[in-house]
Amino acid sequence: MFDQFNRRINYLRISVTDRCNLRCTYCMPEEGIVQIPHNQVLTFEEIVEIARIAVQHGFEKVRITGGEPLVRKGIVDLVRMLKTVEGITDLGLTTNGTLLKQFAQPLYDAGLKRINVSLDTLDPQKYKAITRVGSLSDVLEGLEEAKKVGFNPIKLNCVVENNSNEPDAQAVKAFANSNGFIARFIPKMNLDDGVFGVVEGGEGGDCSTCNRLRLTADGILKPCLFSDKGYNVRELGIQQAIEMAIKNKPACGVANRSGEFYNIGG
Ligand code: 5AD
Ligand code: SF4
Repeated sequence: MFDQFNRRINYLRISVTDRCNLRCTYCMPEEGIVQIPHNQVLTFEEIVEIARIAVQHGFEKVRITGGEPLVRKGIVDLVRMLKTVEGITDLGLTTNGTLLKQFAQPLYDAGLKRINVSLDTLDPQKYKAITRVGSLSDVLEGLEEAKKVGFNPIKLNCVVENNSNEPDAQAVKAFANSNGFIARFIPKMNLDDGVFGVVEGGEGGDCSTCNRLRLTADGILKPCLFSDKGYNVRELGIQQAIEMAIKNKPACGVANRSGEFYNIGG
């Protein structure tokens, strides 16, 4: 389906949980978050039904995000279920990588072939400082396993202050090059102020070609990361929510006071 600005909306990002096992400084407060009550979180059946109806509206690409999607119980089953939806030509997942060592093989066997892993630095101390609780070695082991298992492509999401000239970003780029990974550099954003930039090596951040809708873990379809607008699939019905989200997708984002990355999936 095309929106008012003639953009073909064909990419659905599905947040399967607002929970995360890390506390990245740019994403979450240290004390954690007010979590969505379990009974408000969409079931796998609901998610698959939304994906099915989205495909009928012209969606082709689906990405599973969080929070951290690998902390959602049964995530491998969800991948398997989404693979049965005909018309999804491209299924991906974005993870912080800390649990990837154990999940890479089962995810691959369930039909996932593309994966994006967050990696801002190769310095263990800095990694700890950014994520507050994470260990870099877990992510590196997860990446090694994902490569061994055969994921392709493996993309690295690297958050930068300004651009990829920064030393940590350069190190991530060199690491990516020597491992056959693809590095993308995401300028640090601030949802409240509407501070955002174009992703280097990716397609996010350019409003004029934005093709996505976002589904929160509790079933709100958001037309834009930088907008307060949202359409509840349970209240409106899936079809109506999709149509309204597309129709009301803003030309360009401004600010968002009602969401954070951990619940709208980065
Ligand atoms: N600015 C830029 N990227 C962010 N992410 C989370 N918070 C921010 C922010 N404030 C990114 C993570 C991850 C993806 C899910 O979203 O680094 O790569
Ligand atoms: Fe978790 Fe990703 Fe947010 Fe870090 S950026 S706290 S890994 S959801």
